[in-house]
Amino acid sequence: MFPSPVLPVTFPLPLPLLSLTSGGYLVWRCDSFSSCYGTACVRTGRQTCSAFLLTLFANGWVRTEASSAAERRSGEPSNHLVVGLESSAVDMAFPKHSVLRALSVLILACVLVHCQAPLEPAEEDDVEPIKETNVPTVFAKPEPVQCPPECSCTAEGAVDCAGVDLTEFPAELSEETRHLSLQNNKIAEITVEHISHLHQLETLNLQNNWLTTDGLEDEGFEMLEELAYLYLANNKLTSAPKVLPSSLVSADFAANQLTRIYPYTFGHKPKLRSVYLHNNKLTDAGLPDHMFNASDNLEILTMSSNFLRTVPRNLPSNLYRLHLKSNKLEKIPAGAFDNLPNLRELYLPNNLLNNEGMDNETFSQLNSLECLDLSYNNLSVVPKGLPRNLVLLHLEKNSIRSLPGDALISVRNLEYLLLHNNKLRSRSIHPAAFQGLKKLHTLHMYNNLLERVPRGLPRRAKILMLLHNSISEIGRNDLSLLYTLTELNLSYNQLTNPKVHREAFRKLRVLEKLDLSGNGLHSVPMGLPRSLQVLEIKNNQLSSIPDGALTGMEKLGKIILSNNQLKLNSVYQGAWMELSALTTLDLSGNQLSHIPSDLPESLEYLYLQSNRISTVPASAFEGTPNIKGIFLRFNRLSVDSVDESSFAHLSNLQVLDIGTGNTDLPFKRDEEDDDKMMEEE
Ligand SMILES: *[C@@H]1O[C@H](CO)[C@@H](O)[C@H](O)[C@H]1NC(C)=O
Ligand SMILES: *[C@@H]1O[C@H](CO)[C@@H](O)[C@H](O)[C@H]1NC(C)=O
Ligand SMILES: *[C@@H]1O[C@H](CO)[C@@H](O)[C@H](O)[C@H]1NC(C)=O
Ligand SMILES: *[C@@H]1O[C@H](CO)[C@@H](O)[C@H](O)[C@H]1NC(C)=O
Repeated sequence: MFPSPVLPVTFPLPLPLLSLTSGGYLVWRCDSFSSCYGTACVRTGRQTCSAFLLTLFANGWVRTEASSAAERRSGEPSNHLVVGLESSAVDMAFPKHSVLRALSVLILACVLVHCQAPLEPAEEDDVEPIKETNVPTVFAKPEPVQCPPECSCTAEGAVDCAGVDLTEFPAELSEETRHLSLQNNKIAEITVEHISHLHQLETLNLQNNWLTTDGLEDEGFEMLEELAYLYLANNKLTSAPKVLPSSLVSADFAANQLTRIYPYTFGHKPKLRSVYLHNNKLTDAGLPDHMFNASDNLEILTMSSNFLRTVPRNLPSNLYRLHLKSNKLEKIPAGAFDNLPNLRELYLPNNLLNNEGMDNETFSQLNSLECLDLSYNNLSVVPKGLPRNLVLLHLEKNSIRSLPGDALISVRNLEYLLLHNNKLRSRSIHPAAFQGLKKLHTLHMYNNLLERVPRGLPRRAKILMLLHNSISEIGRNDLSLLYTLTELNLSYNQLTNPKVHREAFRKLRVLEKLDLSGNGLHSVPMGLPRSLQVLEIKNNQLSSIPDGALTGMEKLGKIILSNNQLKLNSVYQGAWMELSALTTLDLSGNQLSHIPSDLPESLEYLYLQSNRISTVPASAFEGTPNIKGIFLRFNRLSVDSVDESSFAHLSNLQVLDIGTGNTDLPFKRDEEDDDKMMEEE
């Protein structure tokens, strides 16, 4: 699971065990029995290390702390590293008694490890063009004659002056320059003289500079007859250049302050394939009527996060992907999408669209459309006339109250239907609404007002998300036609045991994941499918697991029953033992007074924190040789109530967590202080 620790241990002291979600290792050096110096490294994109001191006390407790406060404060965000000691690594050079004592109760220390996530640029959701693929990155020799200082140049005509704090356009550029990288500088002005001699320029990257419309003499661009890739994102342009060369293939003007585009900015460009205009200040009035006149090969247009009220007119017919997210669209004029037979993806979320702003022909001509995103609008019904090849339909976060029988009649190829965060009630969903949707496998209806499982759910559904509704009852036949369902999420509804029919789940023969968390169940329902691999019933009022409730679940790998009222005798004898595939058992936040005695041999992770456990007997883990993690915080354990030999044979153990929250633990105060300190950081 984790990379093997690199352990040049110079003194035969315990091997540290680690638990790091992102992977990492420890390097240790121990000068004496009582202190070791360690370095913990986390690998998350960039590797960072933090030194810390480990002090081993004679009574068996170990404290870990960073070697200097300064190191602990730097580096955000942070990871917690749980360090444990493994007894088998101990050399008998130490007095036997004290070593055993030292190791029988394993250390628990949180070490703060710097963890820098890989830097990600803050960007819009829209797919950003890949900017530098056209610039050769392998620089060949010999260097050409003319190369501006601070830049690097190749014989092939690539000039790289990226991020060198230029405030002016480099003078003396060779006429042979074909790829010019000037991104991440402070260039505020470009004149005709600067660029008009660069007849061979194909790529001009000026992203992230200080260019304004006044500072950009756009007559200069007309001369660049080979220019194919123009990147001007992240500048301060308020108007687009009036004329760009007809050789243009891709143009990126994202994240400027554009209010105006001209007919020859993007018009008359037969090779133009992609235009990025998201995050600007464009309004309808700022666009020419035929913005892409004679630019028939445009495939990708992003205009998200502007101030458009209507969909731009006369879009070219080869358009493949159109992004109009986060504008002010209220209506889609008749015919707006009539001439787009190749459009596959249309993104319209987070606008002001309502049903009056569209009609039964708005989308009906989009014969290639596969993905339509209308989420975060103000629709009250599913739009009529949806195109027949739709695969993915986003309608979440609208005000949809009903689903009539014919609402989805045209979309026979639909595979994903996302209707969550609407106002659907069960009785306002027509039983025939999903009929004929033979490919629909994922249906999200969470956060609606459903009181029952809707009738007529799609028969081939595999994933059904019904969480956060008001479902209080599951009748005998409510789920009886869902033969192919593999994942059913009914968490956070109002289910109680008397209202869940004993046979409600009988037909779900391939169900793998079931979530009944956050309901009002008092006992684990009988008749759950035996095919289950994951069962979650946390945050209920479970006080019993009735005899046989988990019988025959041979594939169950994970069962989460945290935050209930389970006691030892509320679980039938042998319940866990028969779960022969179980690897994770979570019984945290219950009322158990002992560690369950019938744990299955397959168990790897046992969560028992926040119970009432007061002893760990020697035999506690006899039957679980594969266990990797044992979590016992916040119980009633003391040093003397934990038998030293309980863990001795657990050769796979990676994390034993009994550190805080138990009574009588030494250094409790220090650990609390540490926790506080970490929170403050
Ligand atoms: C489109 O461009 C052509 C010239 O290529 C011109 O004749 C025509 O008027 C333009 N159409 C519009 C609507 O601007
Ligand atoms: C749209 O509805 C009108 C009547 O309101 C009807 O005449 C027309 O045929 C419908 N169009 C489509 C594509 O269904
Ligand atoms: C949503 O649409 C309804 C009419 O369908 C309208 O009354 C309401 O004002 C709209 N809400 C917003 C935020 O536009
Ligand atoms: C049920 O959905 C919630 C919310 O998406 C998720 O956190 C939970 O893991 C799901 N349950 C299962 C068993 O996948």
